[in-house]
Amino acid sequence: MHLFSYLVVSAGLTVCAASAIASSPSQILLPKPTGLYQVGRSTAELVDHSRIQPFAPDVEPVRLEVTIFYPAVHQHHSIPGAYFPLETALIEDNYLSSLGLASPNGTFEKLALHLASNEPTQNLTGQPSCEFSLVIFSPGEGTTRLFYSQIAATIASQGFIVVTIDAPYDVDVVQYPNGDLAFINSTLWDTTNDTALEATAYLAIQTRMADVSFVLDSLSNATLAATLIPNLPPSRLNTSHAAMFGHSLGGATAYSILGTDDRIVGGLDMDGLLFGPGLPNGTSKPFMLMGHGGHTRANVTDDPFGTWTAAWSNSTNSTGWKRDIVISGTLHYDFSDYPIVFDTLGISPCNETVRDDNLLIGSLKGKRSLEIVTTYVGAFLDFVLFGKCSALLDGPVDEFPEVVFDY
Ligand SMILES: *[C@@H]1O[C@H](CO)[C@@H](O)[C@H](O)[C@H]1NC(C)=O
Ligand SMILES: *[C@@H]1O[C@H](CO)[C@@H](O)[C@H](O)[C@H]1NC(C)=O
Ligand SMILES: *[C@@H]1O[C@H](CO)[C@@H](O)[C@H](O)[C@H]1NC(C)=O
Ligand SMILES: *[C@@H]1O[C@H](CO)[C@@H](O)[C@H](O)[C@H]1NC(C)=O
Ligand SMILES: *[C@@H]1O[C@H](CO)[C@@H](O)[C@H](O)[C@H]1NC(C)=O
Ligand SMILES: *[C@@H]1O[C@H](CO)[C@@H](O)[C@H](O)[C@H]1NC(C)=O
Ligand SMILES: *[C@@H]1O[C@H](CO)[C@@H](O)[C@H](O)[C@H]1NC(C)=O
Ligand SMILES: *[C@@H]1O[C@H](CO)[C@@H](O)[C@H](O)[C@H]1NC(C)=O
Ligand SMILES: *[C@@H]1O[C@H](CO)[C@@H](O)[C@H](O)[C@H]1NC(C)=O
Ligand SMILES: *[C@@H]1O[C@H](CO)[C@@H](O)[C@H](O)[C@H]1NC(C)=O
Ligand SMILES: *[C@@H]1O[C@H](CO)[C@@H](O)[C@H](O)[C@H]1NC(C)=O
Repeated sequence: MHLFSYLVVSAGLTVCAASAIASSPSQILLPKPTGLYQVGRSTAELVDHSRIQPFAPDVEPVRLEVTIFYPAVHQHHSIPGAYFPLETALIEDNYLSSLGLASPNGTFEKLALHLASNEPTQNLTGQPSCEFSLVIFSPGEGTTRLFYSQIAATIASQGFIVVTIDAPYDVDVVQYPNGDLAFINSTLWDTTNDTALEATAYLAIQTRMADVSFVLDSLSNATLAATLIPNLPPSRLNTSHAAMFGHSLGGATAYSILGTDDRIVGGLDMDGLLFGPGLPNGTSKPFMLMGHGGHTRANVTDDPFGTWTAAWSNSTNSTGWKRDIVISGTLHYDFSDYPIVFDTLGISPCNETVRDDNLLIGSLKGKRSLEIVTTYVGAFLDFVLFGKCSALLDGPVDEFPEVVFDY
């Protein structure tokens, strides 16, 4: 756990459409996504042969696992979809046990998302096709994209196509469909040399920025997009008008990419310090900072280099929209599925040291932090992608007293 926190689609592309997982009595279901739509899921492996993966032990191309959460346009049966593949589930059991969580082997294997089945319950005809906008998500350093699936599915249920992109060798583990596992490069990440760590974080953000651009290139292939997302309208997936959000290092990526990829029209950084390529003249695109309780721009405890202050002041002359909020009662990993997952499994720690220091989750209930995070991310995305205004983004509201504005 760390606080840092071109078109070549591989011939070996693997696409696994959402399929019904046999519902066994031992499965434990996460809450149904709260938005208007049911949510389908597909995964793909996208290989960029034009780049070398910088943190891999051997010379290999960039090999990305992505998950697509899409709104279902028809009525479907709800089916459970495994949260983790088996091997990853065991790895997370062990990793989180080592941090003091009561997660013996077999814990995460039981966890499932509420998904829409592949077949609609009625064969509807003459259904108007819906145009949904594309949203990219990038996880925190050290943490698999899969640990953000409930957040991503909830955003998708609000009417967005959310693509979560993993970061091999800089997250704990990436499991490929053929069984390969890419583990974090701990030589580079587990160092006490801050200069070296900063250089690694910078390269990781640059790598992720290129990954995002590659995924957008890949999804602009209409054949591929149609395989991954059923019921796409004839106008296809609009990959030239997308937004991005991310956690920690992924949030820093969502900021830096505003300067390099015109297709990303706005970015939201959830509690991530801005260690990547900076934007010396700010950005005219909308961006938003979302911090854990106490993580304001002025509080340099968690941001000793003042990267948030710099981003803010660099943008003072640009015409862009910007917001900065902090959420009371949260810590760094409230911007992941940790709280809702641990609550759902009934293993949220009551030991405050384990909760606050080891897992970095705050005092809010899992449902509440999920609700706040997905409501504000959704409001930002509606604003950026559809120009919809929301009182939520203007200032404090009674329904969410936890949200404090640092404008
Ligand atoms: C970490 O990355 C470096 C290249 O930056 C590579 O030489 C080394 O083998 C990798 N170590 C591990 C453990 O993967
Ligand atoms: C749990 O799984 C890990 C990894 O497969 C294994 O090394 C360990 O021995 C298992 N622990 C128990 C108590 O079965
Ligand atoms: C929908 O159509 C398919 C193919 O025509 C058919 O196999 C299926 O049973 C139909 N489903 C329903 C719910 O009517
Ligand atoms: C820390 O890393 C930097 C950059 O890699 C290197 O120049 C420096 O010698 C390292 N410092 C120590 C104390 O190892
Ligand atoms: C688009 O994707 C399809 C399906 O993956 C693939 O067969 C085709 O070669 C791709 N087209 C281009 C131009 O890459
Ligand atoms: C993508 O969306 C933007 C903004 O709505 C629009 O201007 C553009 O024409 C769209 N492109 C396609 C290919 O639909
Ligand atoms: C702010 O601008 C300075 C140069 O004036 C640059 O070095 C820095 O990286 C920028 N910071 C951010 C967060 O964009
Ligand atoms: C920032 O603005 C200055 C002066 O307006 C300009 O010279 C410089 O090229 C700009 N830098 C970038 C990275 O856009
Ligand atoms: C500043 O941040 C630290 C670490 O997150 C926190 O303990 C402290 O309460 C914060 N200070 C304020 C005034 O919120
Ligand atoms: C913003 O504008 C002021 C006044 O024109 C100028 O002095 C300052 O250098 C500009 N700042 C940046 C970051 O471009
Ligand atoms: C809470 O967890 C910490 C670290 O694992 C441990 O040292 C401490 O004894 C625990 N406290 C209680 C009251 O169990």
